[in-house]
Amino acid sequence: TEATQSVHSGALRDRILFEGRPQLLSVDQFSRESVEALFRVADIMQPIARRQKVSRVLEGAVLGNLFFEASTRTRVSFGAAFCRLGGSVCDTTGFTFSSMAKGESIYDTSRVMSGYVDALVVRHPEQGSVAEFARATNIPVINGGDGAGEHPSQALLDLYTIQREFSRLGRIVDGAHVAFVGDLKYGRTVHSLVKLLSLYRGLKFTLIAPAGLELPAHLADRISRNGHVVVQTASLAEGLAGADVVYATRIQKERFEPKEQEQFEGYTPDFQIHQALIDAHCSPRTLVMHPLPRDSRPGANDLSTDLNHDPRLAIFRQTDNGIPVRMALFAVLLGVEDQVPRSMRDA
Ligand code: CP
Repeated sequence: TEATQSVHSGALRDRILFEGRPQLLSVDQFSRESVEALFRVADIMQPIARRQKVSRVLEGAVLGNLFFEASTRTRVSFGAAFCRLGGSVCDTTGFTFSSMAKGESIYDTSRVMSGYVDALVVRHPEQGSVAEFARATNIPVINGGDGAGEHPSQALLDLYTIQREFSRLGRIVDGAHVAFVGDLKYGRTVHSLVKLLSLYRGLKFTLIAPAGLELPAHLADRISRNGHVVVQTASLAEGLAGADVVYATRIQKERFEPKEQEQFEGYTPDFQIHQALIDAHCSPRTLVMHPLPRDSRPGANDLSTDLNHDPRLAIFRQTDNGIPVRMALFAVLLGVEDQVPRSMRDA
């Protein structure tokens, strides 16, 4: 197919290296062309992700999942993606159950793990820490979220979802209006996604955040420098009007500085996305997205469950797309993507 002809083992990997190595730390490693090449690999993975086809291209390979922060989606879907390609997974979750609790350094941990496994996915609470793991080893390391830094695989699956949904509606990403809502300061998925979307042309970014939780200025400046329109507002009604995509996020109180904890003590966000709001300000074609988890505790006012049966709510299509996108990342970083089509057989 056109999709299989356009990828050659190692070719895409060599275009997305981190400091000369096949590792994924930031979406800055991607151009628009390499993102779209990755998505063609993800398309090839779709029947394997849905268990209509089987491939064992990673048989014998082992993934190390090192998660030093809470996770459901990222940890399990990276593990499932590796298993779907025939590999196996070893997990460590939390500092308590790793020898970091005994003072082991990132360098030693990474060097030791690289003798045990063929690839690592790492989530860590400190920004830049996953790059430290990556610099200590030659095996592929994927950033599964580093503090308030980046979450590249989430942004890739978000963009993949937007492209697929838009394609179904006969639209393209160029010229889209994307409204980001909530904690844009600490939302690492937002940081990665705005950079990826900036690779496209003529977008409008509407940034709707509580005072003090706005998108970092260097990211807003970057969007503008890339020729996009940036509107910052605290008004949901104003910001959502005409949006093609509404990307809601959770308020990440766990990342607040002590002074922010005081400032937001008892704070109940009035930025909740719910059915009446979407009906009033958005079109029947608007996509409502969220990286999840959404906070369902009383007072959290995160994305409302009253949209659960609205077809515009794309959150579970996002999570489903996490599998083929993460399979594609493994295939590319481990240099086996061209083996996948000829290895596929019926399930
Ligand atoms: N979106 C995301 O990173 O979810 P988890 O924290 O559950 O991995």
